[in-house]
This record gives sequence, structure tokens and C-alpha cells, in this order.
Amino acid sequence: MSDDLLRVEHVRQWFPLRAGLLFDRTVGHVRAVDDVSFTLSRGETLGLVGESGCGKTTLARTVLRLLTPTGGSITFQGQDVTTAGRRDLAPLRRDAQLVFQDPHASLNPRKCVGDIVSAPLKRQGVGKAERRARVGELLELVGLPASARSRYPHEFSGGQRQRIGIARALAVKPKLIVLDEPVSALDVSIQAQIVNLLDDLQEELGLSYLFVAHDLAVVRHVSDRIAVMYLGRIVELSPAEELYHRPIHPYTEALLGAIPVPEPRRARRQRAVVGGEPPSPIDPPSGCVFHTRCPRAQAKCSVEVPPLTQYDGGHAAACHYPLNVTEAQIAASTRSPDSPEAAGDVTPEVLPVAQSA
Ligand SMILES: Nc1ncnc2c1ncn2[C@@H]1O[C@H](COP(=O)(O)OP(=O)(O)OP(=O)(O)O)[C@@H](O)[C@H]1O
Ligand SMILES: [Mg+2]
Repeated sequence: MSDDLLRVEHVRQWFPLRAGLLFDRTVGHVRAVDDVSFTLSRGETLGLVGESGCGKTTLARTVLRLLTPTGGSITFQGQDVTTAGRRDLAPLRRDAQLVFQDPHASLNPRKCVGDIVSAPLKRQGVGKAERRARVGELLELVGLPASARSRYPHEFSGGQRQRIGIARALAVKPKLIVLDEPVSALDVSIQAQIVNLLDDLQEELGLSYLFVAHDLAVVRHVSDRIAVMYLGRIVELSPAEELYHRPIHPYTEALLGAIPVPEPRRARRQRAVVGGEPPSPIDPPSGCVFHTRCPRAQAKCSVEVPPLTQYDGGHAAACHYPLNVTEAQIAASTRSPDSPEAAGDVTPEVLPVAQSA
């Protein structure tokens, strides 16, 4: 059996834009997720990073089949769940859980912590005594006191509330947890505590994580691999440390520039920061979607969609004029099977001046 827990192939999520008196005419689409492919192995953490509005939450909800994709396929534990109905979705509903960004809004204020954490167990028909015992275990697992059980969400800090959300996600012993910006609403010191907790839980329980964040600093130490998303597409996918040392896509380089450097005077290089607003996903730019903001863009970029190109070391990027790759690496590169379907057969080119090395 393959080691892939989750396989996402050419997934699209286009939301129809409706107009007319009865909103009965479709006048266009918001291309929130457009031709995205990746795999997630058992026990692996894949970081998913990109600016606000690039489609991270939509992709997360789609792979969990809270939304039905407009196109492409989703395979979970070897089973195609792309269009699965209620009954066939049962294993996914049990084995894949979601933790939300806002730990305040995602917990029902009228329910005590014990009821919140045990709700998924109740839905699965687990008896009262067993639910009680399991809640005790779960609270201990996420570092909350047993007394938390009878208290209400408003009595907890943001970090503690996120622990409650994590305990709820763990209740049904999932294999995959999708974490949608799980620490973005928290103070930096609390962020570290939650990230460490997630790390420990992964080791103890053998979980896989899809960890969504809007900046690269947060996912660095938790991710095995990182996917960088721009305007509904994955533009670079790489082993984590490699991405920070050798970004290939100019957008990744720009995102790295947005990470504060602890000791600016010792920073070895000046990195580009991407300017302006991202274009609308209703009418995305032709060719490479990043070309309107890219400092390296040439004429070709507005015409041809760059294929996701596989370089050495499991590092892939979709750019006609990649950074930090030599001619030899380009010669050895191959077009990834995960490439956008519409892309032509094109080879990346090296600019005369190698940048940012
Ligand atoms: N149900 C919907 N109907 C129409 N458009 C939607 C819907 N949900 C999301 N969108 C649009 O899809 C795009 C992607 O949104 P999404 O929430 O996935 O982005 P995100 O990367 O999670 O952003 P953030 O970092 O702000 O959470 C946005 O343009 C958004 O307006
Ligand atoms: Mg989001």
C-alpha cells in the first residue's frame, strides 16, 4: 500500500458569480483553487503558505470534502472521495479533522468544555462512561487541567481555547488534522507553546498535518515540506529547510523577505518584498498568474503558464525564469506530473544574472 494518506490531483474550486434578479445567471467564477496537486504521507507535516485570499482555507475545506471540488480528484487512504456521498465519506469524517484559526469563534460559548470535546464521540455513538473517560485523557494530552471539563470557553485564554479545539479534533483518533492558521490569533509566546504541543502530539500519535499559515516564519520548524500558494495555485513545493535556503520561485523569495530578521545587521542578503495587491481570482492574469507583480517577468510569462518543474531533492517550482538553479539543474529537471493540465511543454530558462544566491 502506498504511504500517501492524502492525494490531491488537479483540484479546482471555482465559486460561481451570480447575477440577475433571482441570482439565476452565472456571470463568471471566483477561481479560489485552480489546478492544485500534492500528496501528504503518513506522519508528515505539509505547510501551506500564501497571502490572504490566495485560497488556503478553500483548499483545506475542499480536501476535507466540506466542499465538493469543481474538478480534479481527492484520494484519502486509497479511497477516491472526490464526489463521495454521506456514507462513503464516513472514514474521511472520522479520520480527518479540522482545527480553526479563531479559537473563540469555533467553540460554542453555551457548551461546557466537556460537552465540546466529547461532541464528536457522541456523534459516533460512544457511550457516556467511555466519553467521560476519554475527555479526561484528551484534556491531559493537550495540557489542560481536569477541572476544565465543567468550565465554559470564555473562561479560557486564546491559547487554552486553541488547546480545547485541538482536544476536540483528537477525540475521534484522527490520522490527519488540517490546521487552518491555528496560531495566527495568538501571541508569539503562546504560538510557540501550541506549535510545540502539536509537535509532541504528532510524535505520540503518528498524525499527519496540513498546516496552513500566511507567513513562512510560522511553518518553518513544524513542516517537513512546504507548499507556497499564489492566487489559487501552488507555485513552489519543497522540503522545508531547502525552501528557506534556496527559494526557486520569485514569489517565495518575496515571502521570505517579509520575515523579520532577528539581527538585521547580520542579515546576509537583501531580499525582495513583493509590492501591490494580489490580482482578483475572478479574472486572474494570463500565463503565469504572478507575472503582474514579478520583478523577473519577461514577455513569455504573460503568455505561457509555467509548468510545475521538478528539480533535484524533491524541490518543484512553476517559473519560466527560476532563481537559484544552475543550467545543469535545469537540464536535469523534469516536468512534474502535478503540473497544471493546461500548460504547454516548456523548459525554464536561466537569466544571465543569477540572483539572490
Ligand atoms: N463561498 C465562497 N463564495 C465565493 N467566493 C469565495 C467563497 N469562499 C472563498 N471565496 C473567495 O475565494 C478566495 C480564496 O479565499 P480563502 O478564504 O480560501 O483564502 P485564504 O487564503 O484562506 O485567505 P486568508 O489568509 O485571509 O484566510 C477569496 O477571493 C475569497 O473571496
Ligand atoms: Mg483562510
